[in-house]
Order: sequence, then C-alpha cells, then structure tokens
Amino acid sequence: MGQDIREAVERLKRERDAVVLAHYYVPGETQGLADFVGDSFALARIAATCDASTVVMAGVRFMGESVKLLNPGRRVLLPEPAADCPMAHMVDPAFVARCRAEEDDLAVACYVNSTAALKALSDVCVTSSNAVDVVRALPQRTVLFIPDENLGRFVAGQVPEKRVILNPGCCPVHRDIPAAAVAAERDRHPGALVLAHPECPADVLALADVVGSTAEIIRAVEGSDAADFVVCTVEGVGHEIARRCEGTGKRVHFPAPAPRCPDMAGITPEKVLACLETGSGEVPLPPDADAARAPLERMLELSARGGGAR
Ligand code: 13P
Ligand code: SF4
Repeated sequence: MGQDIREAVERLKRERDAVVLAHYYVPGETQGLADFVGDSFALARIAATCDASTVVMAGVRFMGESVKLLNPGRRVLLPEPAADCPMAHMVDPAFVARCRAEEDDLAVACYVNSTAALKALSDVCVTSSNAVDVVRALPQRTVLFIPDENLGRFVAGQVPEKRVILNPGCCPVHRDIPAAAVAAERDRHPGALVLAHPECPADVLALADVVGSTAEIIRAVEGSDAADFVVCTVEGVGHEIARRCEGTGKRVHFPAPAPRCPDMAGITPEKVLACLETGSGEVPLPPDADAARAPLERMLELSARGGGAR
C-alpha cells in the first residue's frame, strides 16, 4: 500500500469525522488503516458506543448491518458492499418457526454471522467468543442454535445442561480445513500448539489445544511459551499475531492450503479510500430493525467476557 493511500485515508477520516473498524480476517494492509481491529464481539461493542458520524466497517455485510442496528444514527459504509458471509443466509426461517411451535421452553440463539432478518427471529445473538457464556446464561433449557452447526456443537459440548438443537449451516472456509492437514502441520513442528476456531469441524477441534475466537487465538499465541503454532482459522489473523509477537521468533503455520475467506480478502485499502471519498457502500437500516437489534443488545447485556481488539 502506498503512503499516498494512507495519507488520504487519514485526511478523509478527519474531514468526514469517520472511524475505520476492521476484522482480523481482512488483508493486513487494510487492518493497518483501521482505528480499531477486532473480532466480531469486540467490533459489536465498539459499534454500540462509537460516536463518530461515519463508521467504515472493513468486514462483511452482517458486520455493517450490526453496526447500523446498534448505532442507527451513524452513517455506516462498507468498502466492498458485495462482501457477504455465505453462512449468514444458511437458515430456513420455516425451521425456526417449526422449532418454536414444537418446543415450549425454547430460546433461539443466533450467531452474529447472520442476516438482520434472521436476527429478528431470534432471542439472543452470540459471537464465537461469548457463545458458551451466553447460552449458559439463558433461562430456557432448550436452545436452537443458528446458523453454524460446528459452533453450535462446540457450545453444546461445553454447556451439557442445555439441550441444543443444531441447524445445518456452516462457514465454508472453516468447514474445508482438513484434519489431516492440521495433524501433518503439527507433526512437522514438534511441540507446536494447535489453535482452532470453533467454526472448524469436530475432527479439527479434537486436535486443538485451544479453541477460541480470532481474538482468543491471537491472545493465546501471544501468551504462550511455545515457538510454533498451527492456527486453524483464516490466514488474516497472521498479521495481528506477527505485529504482537514481533522479535519473539514465534512461528505461525496454517494447515495447507492456508484458509482464505474470499469475501474478507477483497476488502482492500483502495476500497476503504474510495468509500471514504465518495460515501459509497452505505448500509441502510434493515427492515424490522427493532426486532433485529434486540438480540444484539441482549448479547451485550449477557456476555461478561470475551472479544478482543486493538
Ligand atoms: P470471530 O470474529 O468471532 O472470531 O468470528 C470469526 C468469523 O468468522 C467472522 O466472520
Ligand atoms: Fe463467513 Fe467464514 Fe468468511 Fe467468516 S470466514 S465471513 S464465517 S465465510
């Protein structure tokens, strides 16, 4: 990235009273332009309190929608409006309605990786860093977990006192991380710590020493005495790990082929600059905004810990 892009972005942030938020999965150069970089939960918390008049959300569509829902008075811009999370759509609303009709003590817990329309059908949102705590804190004994089956199964294992109904949705990027590639990478680096995002399939989580959100994985690498780390999530986290662990000699390895989210990868510094210049990519307030906001606010109330940002 040229110095001219950086200078232009800094000037436009001042002129437009704008902040740039970025997820750890976007390219490192884009993270370098951001005022806050974090995991989904940290970004939601920042979104709720941010007082800049324009918020540029360097992330996928559901992240922009969450910022708009939590802070409807702000102008929210997506640098790449076509960047969407396929998993965000992987729930049939009729399945939610059927579960509600059949279960009399049910909470619908919705991963933030979901459309506003699906959030509006839900009782509470969760992110990967607070899902266990939030589900445990729910008064209902039965929980329909949407859309991510892998995260839902992981939560069910951690909260055995609940009956968790799963939905067949997943992140295609984490789903395609092969357990054999994780084991091969671990075996190539004796003493390596294996860290996995809970969106990974159960056979990958079974190999992991640490299961956590992107922020939790980054913190675990930073805090560990190990020299080698097999990181089972999107390669974008390597940028923040390298920044925090500079000079320590720690080495990060991704199972081959290195997991890459095409939607996140397309959010470039040039697009951040273009949306600040032109105001393009504005996120409208979703229909049914009050119903979609309520589960996000409930998550913020219920989650005592989790998330991370710089
Ligand atoms: P976290 O930010 O909660 O780690 O989730 C990762 C993700 O898949 C975002 O799309
Ligand atoms: Fe969606 Fe997976 Fe990409 Fe995250 S990494 S935005 S869950 S497709």
